Amino acid sequence: MGQRVALLPAVAQFLGREQKLLIGGAWVPAASGETFATLNPATGRPLTQVAQGAAVDIDRAVQAARAAFPAWAALLPAQRERLLHRFADLMEEHKAELAQLETLDNGKPFNVAYNVEVNVAIGQMRYYAGAPTRLTGETYPVSSPGFLVYTRREPLGVCGAITPWNYSLVMATQKIGPALATGNTLVLKPAEQTPLTALRLAELALAAGIPPGVFNVVTGFGDTAGAALTAHPDVNKVAFTGSTDVGRAIVRASAGNLKHVSLELGGKSPLIIFDDADLPAAAEAALWAIFANSGQNCVAGSRLYVQRRVYDTVLGELAARAGRLKVGDGLEPDTSLGPLISQRQLDQVLHFVEQGVAGGGTLVTGGQRPGGDLAGGYFLQPTIFGGVAEDSVIAREEIFGPVLSAFAFDDEADVLPRANHSRYGLAAGVWTNNLSRAHRLAQHLRAGVVWINTYDWFDPAVPFGGVGESGYGRELGSQVMDMYTELKSVWVKL
Ligand code: NAI
Ligand code: MG
Repeated sequence: MGQRVALLPAVAQFLGREQKLLIGGAWVPAASGETFATLNPATGRPLTQVAQGAAVDIDRAVQAARAAFPAWAALLPAQRERLLHRFADLMEEHKAELAQLETLDNGKPFNVAYNVEVNVAIGQMRYYAGAPTRLTGETYPVSSPGFLVYTRREPLGVCGAITPWNYSLVMATQKIGPALATGNTLVLKPAEQTPLTALRLAELALAAGIPPGVFNVVTGFGDTAGAALTAHPDVNKVAFTGSTDVGRAIVRASAGNLKHVSLELGGKSPLIIFDDADLPAAAEAALWAIFANSGQNCVAGSRLYVQRRVYDTVLGELAARAGRLKVGDGLEPDTSLGPLISQRQLDQVLHFVEQGVAGGGTLVTGGQRPGGDLAGGYFLQPTIFGGVAEDSVIAREEIFGPVLSAFAFDDEADVLPRANHSRYGLAAGVWTNNLSRAHRLAQHLRAGVVWINTYDWFDPAVPFGGVGESGYGRELGSQVMDMYTELKSVWVKL
C-alpha cells in the first residue's frame, strides 16, 4: 500500500493566495470585492477564497475578449497551433499540480485525476492544437455557367463556456481547445464548487503566450455570473455542460441575440447485459459505469438491465465488487470512491435513496454514509437497488450519485423499449457476444453514444453528445468545429 499524496509546494502556494479573475490578461478582484470559499468535499473545509464575479465582471471580460478577437482570428493558423501546443506542453509539465488541485477541489481519487483525467485534458488540447491548419471549406459544382463557389469557415467571435464540477478540467479543455483553435476568444465560467483547475489553466495559458483577452476566466455563481454570460448581447455562442434545467434557462437567455448554444446535459443511461456475455467482465464494467466519480458522471450507467437467467448471478457479483470498493479521501492511495461534491448533492442523493426504499426497491448494498474519519466529508457507500419499479423516481431521475437501479428482462424485444423509455438519451451500453444483436441494439438504442462490451470510453477524435433532454450539439471530434464556426458561401463570376 502506498502513502498519502503529499501536496506539492506549488499547490500549497496556489492555495495560499486569494484567487482572482483573469480579464484581458490581468488578474483582478471582482468589481464588488466579494469572494467565496471553495471547499474540499472530503473534509467540508475551505481550500481558499475565490473572487465572486458577477454581471459587471462578465461584461468586462466579454469586452476584453471582443477587443482581443480580431488579432487572434487573424493569426496565421500555424501560429495559433504553436501557442496551443505550448499550452499543452505546460499542462504536461504541471500535470501533478493540476491533478492535486482537481482532487482537492472535487474529491476524486488522485490516481484517477493524475493517470486519467489530466491526460485526457492534455490529449484534447493537443488534438485541437493541430486543428487550425486543417480547417477547410469546400468548392461546389453549381449548375450555372462560369462560377467558382466555395465556402470559408470563420470564427463566431466571443464564446462563453460554462462548466460543471464533476470533471472540471476536462470539461474546460473540451471547450477551450476548439474555441481557440477556430480563432474565437473565450470567457470561461467554471462551476463554483470547483474553480481551481480553470484558474491554474488560465495561468498556464498566459505563460504559454496566448495573448491577453483571448482566454478569460470569471469565477462566480450560476444565477449571477453564469446567467450574465448567457444573456450577454455581445457573446456569440455559449457551450454548456450541466443540468437539464439550467440548459433550458440558457436556451431562453440565448434568444435575445440568438447566440449559438451547445448543450451537454443530464442522462439516465441504460446498460444491458445478456446471458451470453462475459459475465465477470460485464459486472466489472457495470460497477465502474455507475461508481466512477462516485456516480457524478453524465454518462453514468445508472439503469442496469440484466437478462433474467443471470440476474441473480450478476447482481451478486456486482454487490460483492461494490463491497470491496474503498470509499475515502482522494489523497489516500487506496481510495476508489471519493465524496460527493457538496452537502447539497449528498442530501439530494440520500433523498433519492429514501424514495427508492419507499418505492419498494430492495437495497442490495450500500445506502449508508460511512462514519469515523469520513464523517466530516460528503461520502456515501456505493448503493445498489434491485427489484426497482420501472416508473419509480429512482428509475427515471438522474441521481448523480453512487446509486444503481437494477432490473431483470426476458429478451431483446422486452429490453429495448424499456431501455429507451427515458426523456434523456446520452449513452447506452450493451454486453453480448451475439454480433448481430449488438449491432441491432446499437442501431435502435436512443442515445448519442453506444458502447458494446465496454463502457465510458472517450477519445478526442470521437464526437460526443446526446439526444432528447440530454441536449444538442456535439463536442469532440472534428464535428465540434461546426459548433464554433460559421460557414460562409462565396460566389465568384469568372
Ligand atoms: P448546474 O447545472 O446548476 O451547474 C452547472 C454550471 O452551470 C455551473 O457552472 C453553474 O454555476 C452554472 N449555472 C447554474 N445556473 C445557471 C444559470 N441560470 N445560468 C447560467 N449558468 C448557470 O448543476 P448543479 O446545480 O451543480 O447540479 C445539479 C444537478 O445537475 C446534478 O445533481 C446533476 O443531476 C446535474 N448535473 C449534470 C452534469 C452533467 O455533466 N450532465 C454536471 C453537473 C450537474
Ligand atoms: Mg471545491
